Amino acid sequence: MSSTFENNPTEQAAGKTTSSHLILVYAHKITRTYLRKYRNKGSGDKTQEIIKRLDEALEKNDLEKATGLFDESVREHVSTNERLEYIQNFHSQFEDLINGSRIIIDIGGGLYPLTFPFENAMNLNQYIWIDSDAKSYEILERFQKLYKKNMPSSKNSHQIKSQLNIPEIILYNESFEQRKWNEYFSNEPDLVLMLKLVPVIWRQQRNLIEKLASIPGKALLVTANKESMTKKENVAKKENTILMKFIELTGRNITRKIDTQNEFGYLLS
Ligand SMILES: C[S@@+](CC[C@H](N)C(=O)[O-])C[C@H]1O[C@@H](n2cnc3c(N)ncnc32)[C@H](O)[C@@H]1O
Repeated sequence: MSSTFENNPTEQAAGKTTSSHLILVYAHKITRTYLRKYRNKGSGDKTQEIIKRLDEALEKNDLEKATGLFDESVREHVSTNERLEYIQNFHSQFEDLINGSRIIIDIGGGLYPLTFPFENAMNLNQYIWIDSDAKSYEILERFQKLYKKNMPSSKNSHQIKSQLNIPEIILYNESFEQRKWNEYFSNEPDLVLMLKLVPVIWRQQRNLIEKLASIPGKALLVTANKESMTKKENVAKKENTILMKFIELTGRNITRKIDTQNEFGYLLS
């Protein structure tokens, strides 16, 4: 199953790189409607309920409500939520690649696209997302709907797209084992994202690790958690051992280290 949606890189509002930021910037620039950034803290594990409320908001084309629900869904997803506090710092460490890449592939992406700084990805043509998680897919599909609904429907939309270089976002809701790499992209990606993915595959789907290591791409970013989910244990050493074994399998060189409060990783070429 795959789907595409278009996103809008425009301008950066300082300190805000969540889904609501993207929608806000989009809405402001394209429809010239100002929307307040909406945050909802303290929600429990209620992704299904969020999806239902998203459908209601989308039905009414209530952009403000939908924006808040995308924020909520980011906070419900452990991996993206953990990164949220340090996201500016995280992105600043590979901003040259965010700015320069034409094709990015995000393997096991979860809800990370909702926090990706599309507004800084000025050369991006395609953001390809692969994840077997149906709930993340359902949320990203609704994100797509929102964009489509609020895109100018006139013949001008094509013109605006080319002016703003709006990237195509392609969603594959499946395991990356389903296709050969060259069926996911026709040109080699500039940046391959494997954020917090390698330890998961190493532990739970070891048979897929060689396929993961063999992905074509000019640069590859692999990261892992520093802390366990309960934050009681420092797991950086264990995770680093796995990343190092994986890097050896890729045959690539480490060109940069990435480091935040609770996540670390390597850029490979
Ligand atoms: C720890 S989460 C990381 C999510 C995201 N990359 C981030 O850092 O915010 C791992 C993700 O990998 C996905 N995943 C696990 N095995 C997969 C596979 N074989 N193919 C595609 N996605 C997979 C899971 O569904 C989950 O969304």
